[in-house]
Amino acid sequence: MKALVTGASAGIGRALATTLAAAGYSVTAVARREDRLDGLLDALGPGHDRLVADLATPEGLRATAGRLAEAPYTLLVNNAGAAVHGGFAATSLEDSLAVLDLNCRAVVTLAHAFLTRARPGATLLNVSSTLGFTPKPGLGVYSASKAFVTSFSETLWHEQKTRGVHVLALCPGVTATESQHAEDVPSWLVQTPEEVATRALQAVRRREGPTVVSGRRNAVLTAVTGLLPRKTALSLLG
Ligand SMILES: NC(=O)c1ccc[n+]([C@@H]2O[C@H](COP(=O)([O-])OP(=O)(O)OC[C@H]3O[C@@H](n4cnc5c(N)ncnc54)[C@H](OP(=O)(O)O)[C@@H]3O)[C@@H](O)[C@H]2O)c1
Repeated sequence: MKALVTGASAGIGRALATTLAAAGYSVTAVARREDRLDGLLDALGPGHDRLVADLATPEGLRATAGRLAEAPYTLLVNNAGAAVHGGFAATSLEDSLAVLDLNCRAVVTLAHAFLTRARPGATLLNVSSTLGFTPKPGLGVYSASKAFVTSFSETLWHEQKTRGVHVLALCPGVTATESQHAEDVPSWLVQTPEEVATRALQAVRRREGPTVVSGRRNAVLTAVTGLLPRKTALSLLG
């Protein structure tokens, strides 16, 4: 079993790479920071490899799609993601467009490279977010990009199931990582990257989908927020 994990140098992606390796997958770890990837490979031991690539660029995407074409991968994890924090009009357009390149364009490009070759039994796991269900003011482009990832994954789930290829969107809530210090969030709501990775592997094994919210509390909160009037939900998150 071969898995390619994007954004494997830190956070949820690193935990996913570690969890998958422990479960017997041979992991290809993709990210920009070479030293971090080498540290991961040292920790994983032999049988894994890495690709240094910036997935917000055409070159990085070409290299990663090329890697997917070189060998039959059984699992693609589109995990790499980024956000711009702050009001949309007050932040740089260039930064927002780079978020779209990574969170949406890269996901679509790599999904296509994977699914055109996927064999029955293969899985595509796209890491989305609970913010894909309810957008958070101050994270507008990010929330919208995750709504895209969830919606896209759901249609792929339907399209691919007849050929035995499993697609799911994993939707974590707040998870303590480098980019998410979760200081203003109650600790009972914060998951660790390892908890998210464990839930992801469980969902892959059980072929759950099309969307899986990580953590019971996040699932309840998402369900409740979905029942609220849109204005109320926006005010609460804002
Ligand atoms: N943390 C949360 O609360 C939370 C909640 C819901 C969903 N998520 C989603 O979970 C995923 C992982 O989040 P995280 O919190 O674990 O993030 P993180 O700790 O900030 O790590 C992000 C990973 O993506 C890689 N990355 C960033 N930009 C990249 C680029 N241009 N090309 C290639 N790799 C790139 C980073 O590696 P390099 O810097 O080495 O490239 C790193 O490995 C994201 O899709 C995020 O939206 C996170």
